Amino acid sequence: MQYERHQAWSVLLRLFHWAFALSIVVLVTTGLYIHFPWTNTMIIDGSTNFPVATMRYIHFIAGFIFTAALLTRLYLLLFGNRQEQFRDFLPITPRNIKNLFATLKYYLYLSDEGDHRPGHNALAGIVYFVTFLVALVQIISGFYLLYPESAFWQKWGVLLLGPQQQGRRFHYLLMWYFIFFAATHLYIVIWNDARSKEGLISSIFTGTKYTPKKI
Ligand code: HEM
Ligand code: HEM
Repeated sequence: MQYERHQAWSVLLRLFHWAFALSIVVLVTTGLYIHFPWTNTMIIDGSTNFPVATMRYIHFIAGFIFTAALLTRLYLLLFGNRQEQFRDFLPITPRNIKNLFATLKYYLYLSDEGDHRPGHNALAGIVYFVTFLVALVQIISGFYLLYPESAFWQKWGVLLLGPQQQGRRFHYLLMWYFIFFAATHLYIVIWNDARSKEGLISSIFTGTKYTPKKI
């Protein structure tokens, strides 16, 4: 079979992907430590070790990187290349609705032929879009916890999440969404890469993807 080469992902999207992915790894690790410190947190006399403060500091730096990454992706949803815009992967057009059902059949092993295309399939697109929304709520809850005295964050925090303690609970629970997402995401991209010759995994490094050539 012959394949067509596509420039699928811009440099900005790839930068977003890796900033988002790596910041999440750091946020989950430091967040778990803040929630449940697994080392001795007592300050030993004369020591300059403050493990919780250090973990919180790293968490906040990663939180700012995560926020910048999400803002970049929101911009690309509207102004990115064709594959990066929301119209290309949400099931809001007949082409994408057809792709959603074809992908479901392919994933359920009911068909060997997926509807391959340069961008995301519509099923992945829905999950990524939901992930961006969850990330937005995570950012609002994070800044609400970080700046409890700021009128702006207080207004949004109270409106969406309720009192501080509830915001904290939400922030903690949403962490599990990202852990679950990362695990299934890795499984699915490896499964896809093994099953079809699109060069899917390398595409998130190089930007180039392949689809079967229609003759
Ligand atoms: C995927 C993204 C994130 C994850 C998984 C995450 C995870 C967590 C977890 C598990 C905690 C501990 C909550 C608890 O004690 O029960 C926490 C605390 C916190 N996070 Fe995040 N977080 C994320 C993003 C952010 C962002 C974007 C900010 C904003 C800068 C932020 C700011 C905070 C603050 C201020 C605390 C409270 C620290 C304290 O009171 O000691 N987080 N985070
Ligand atoms: C070694 C680790 C990883 C690899 C090889 C990888 C690979 C990929 C690939 C190939 C795609 C495009 C798939 C498609 O067309 O549907 C993608 C998209 C995506 N990945 Fe990953 N990924 C990794 C880690 C992560 C992690 C840890 C996260 C976050 C928890 C993440 C979040 C995303 C998101 C949100 C997208 C959608 C991109 C967009 O359109 O904005 N990835 N990844």
